Amino acid sequence: MNQADLIWMNGEFVAWEDAKVHVLTHGLHYGTGVFEGIRAYETELGTAIFRHADHLDRLRRSAELYYMPLPYSIEELRLATHELIARNNLTSCYIRPLVYRGYGQMGLYPLDAPIDVAIAMWQWGAYLGDESKRTGVRAKVSSWRRIGSESLIPHSKASGQYLNSVLAKIEATKGGYEEGILLDGRGFVCEGTGENIFVVRDGKIFTPPQGASILDGITRKSAMQIATDLGYEIVERDIARAELYLADEIYLTGTAAELVPVREIDDRQVGGGKPGPVTRAVQAAFEDALHGRGERYRAWLDVVAVPTRTA
Ligand SMILES: Cc1ncc(COP(=O)(O)O)c(C=O)c1O
Repeated sequence: MNQADLIWMNGEFVAWEDAKVHVLTHGLHYGTGVFEGIRAYETELGTAIFRHADHLDRLRRSAELYYMPLPYSIEELRLATHELIARNNLTSCYIRPLVYRGYGQMGLYPLDAPIDVAIAMWQWGAYLGDESKRTGVRAKVSSWRRIGSESLIPHSKASGQYLNSVLAKIEATKGGYEEGILLDGRGFVCEGTGENIFVVRDGKIFTPPQGASILDGITRKSAMQIATDLGYEIVERDIARAELYLADEIYLTGTAAELVPVREIDDRQVGGGKPGPVTRAVQAAFEDALHGRGERYRAWLDVVAVPTRTA
């Protein structure tokens, strides 16, 4: 990991190596935390955080779904993030805010445990690799089903819920694939371990709906807006597993991975085994949006106001 100098913890800027918690931290035992994954990019306007307000809003909602009111305002967290980027002297980075039940109370009733907040950041290249963004990944449908709303809250980006993604990721990796695709409890296509999924058939783009246990991805929303603006028809509906094999193109979207084509699914080539034209077009426009190229999606950028220190 590319270590940064400082981490923000409960209002203090602390050295990376001092950002520690007690071993009896509630969230460590029971998964009682929520988090975000956000990216800041170098743009001609300066360092800019992509859809920062949307990510912080999702953080707040994720926390509230698990009975954790944020002890800081969204604006306080936004400004702390700006300052942390500046103090860490970063021009682009991955940002990881974490809200968790802290030390002081054990047992499954968590409401008396403190709510702690940390913001970490580090330089992190494309999660599935830069090459994968060009050539596409090999993916496998996982034997693990995505968590469902009958027992957890898929709309919350909650720490404990990620055991589900961890199992699917290990299975896919051990099998020699770059990513696992989870079906939902009903057997319909849901999403990757850390990405939403899109399927292109006959020029139309399909993606699973909100009710299919997906995380409501911010990259998903952005890619849908961009595809619509490019003139493509987007349909949110349940997708059968076989449609992955019948697809002309498949791509994944996520903050960490960005927009990644899938070139093979379950050892079957997608399209000709190369990223197709729809994927390419949406990906190119999305990359432009991330890096602030052009005016169209500038409103998605939260430009870091604090000047980056050079010394
Ligand atoms: C399970 C899961 N699905 C989808 C996504 C994509 O969400 P976003 O585009 O907001 O990063 C993520 C990443 O945050 C994720 O962890």
